[in-house]
Amino acid sequence: MSYNFNSVIDRHGTNCIKTDLAVIRGKPADVLSLWVADMDFPTSPAILEALHNKVDHGIFGYSCLDDDFFSALKNWMQTEHDFSPERRELVTTPGVVFGISCAIKAFTQEGDSVIIQTPVYYPFKNMIELNNRKLVTSSLYEKEGKYYINFEDFEKKIIENNVKLFILCSPHNPVSRVWTREELQKLSDICLRNNVIVFSDEIHNDFVYGPNKHIVFSNLSPEAAENSIVSMSVSKTFNLAGLQFSTNFIKNPVLRNKFRIEKDKTGYDEPSLMGLTAALAAYKNGKPWLLDLHKHLKENIDFVRNFLAEKLPSVRLIEPEGTFLLWLDFSKLGLSDSEIDDIIVNKAKVWLDRGTMFGPEGEYYQRINVATPRPVLEEALNRIEGAFKEIKHV
Ligand SMILES: Cc1ncc(COP(=O)(O)O)c(C=O)c1O
Repeated sequence: MSYNFNSVIDRHGTNCIKTDLAVIRGKPADVLSLWVADMDFPTSPAILEALHNKVDHGIFGYSCLDDDFFSALKNWMQTEHDFSPERRELVTTPGVVFGISCAIKAFTQEGDSVIIQTPVYYPFKNMIELNNRKLVTSSLYEKEGKYYINFEDFEKKIIENNVKLFILCSPHNPVSRVWTREELQKLSDICLRNNVIVFSDEIHNDFVYGPNKHIVFSNLSPEAAENSIVSMSVSKTFNLAGLQFSTNFIKNPVLRNKFRIEKDKTGYDEPSLMGLTAALAAYKNGKPWLLDLHKHLKENIDFVRNFLAEKLPSVRLIEPEGTFLLWLDFSKLGLSDSEIDDIIVNKAKVWLDRGTMFGPEGEYYQRINVATPRPVLEEALNRIEGAFKEIKHV
């Protein structure tokens, strides 16, 4: 590998929420943080160089998109995802969650129902509830270590609640599914026949393993494209979340206009200069770094799988098809969800995301972020093993 993903960089005191919020959020000061979905590596050198150049230029005034940016973005989308958006379809936001909030306001009224598939990334629920919309959930179900959609339940909930908007997580965080074309097509068909607009959060689209392939929702069919907002970002792919820049693709001009109005109403206007600069460099020159990162992540996933098999066989790994977030099942330990969480946080001193944050279906689960150097991952797993062994629960 040309890039090194195994040197440990201390993130304490760098305004990093993963480390610097630990004590504020009631965790031990020396906790190891493998929760929020950013990475413990510096971004690609090509991106760093572009950012350094911008800093050297020294002028940080209002910024705008140009042809160079759009052609780099389009080239990336075509090469990586067989996706060819037109420039007019693009609306930038300072993040994907910001886009979700705009979509909720643009396509629903207060009191309207919005559906999500739990367990799922928790800000989906928060955005729906904070905007005074009705939360409707359709649970994914797990069978032999893999999660599936209950299509009947999904449609029934839509009809019963007169749902107006569906927030899809594709690939899915936290159960690490990469939805197949058939699954997405069924979801699209249900939404089309019930007049439900789809917001497809595809932020994890550049992390897909094995034979799985990410399908861009609007690539399913012209009808799906007309009925959806597809949201993507370099923020997960290149570890740029702090630069606050994401892209939404909206083919349907009516939906696009409504979305834009809600974005404009927030007062947010031009994209962040550093976010834009980083995204341009990522699309143009980031690929070699990303390929090496994929190798590192796959090795980390193998490491977790082997570690559990050897040392913590009662903890089950849900085999990931995508994302750098692993969904671990602790239910076989015979402990309550609170006991499991308490042991991990206070005895092992490891901060993961507790499964119930993603919905009640996450009881007995924890989500671990493996986008970290191997020594950190190893230390975290050793601590967890030690803590459960100490109380003789493995
Ligand atoms: C599915 C999903 N959507 C959105 C985000 C956050 O996106 P942003 O920081 O661009 O709002 C995350 C981060 O973990 C995520 O997992």
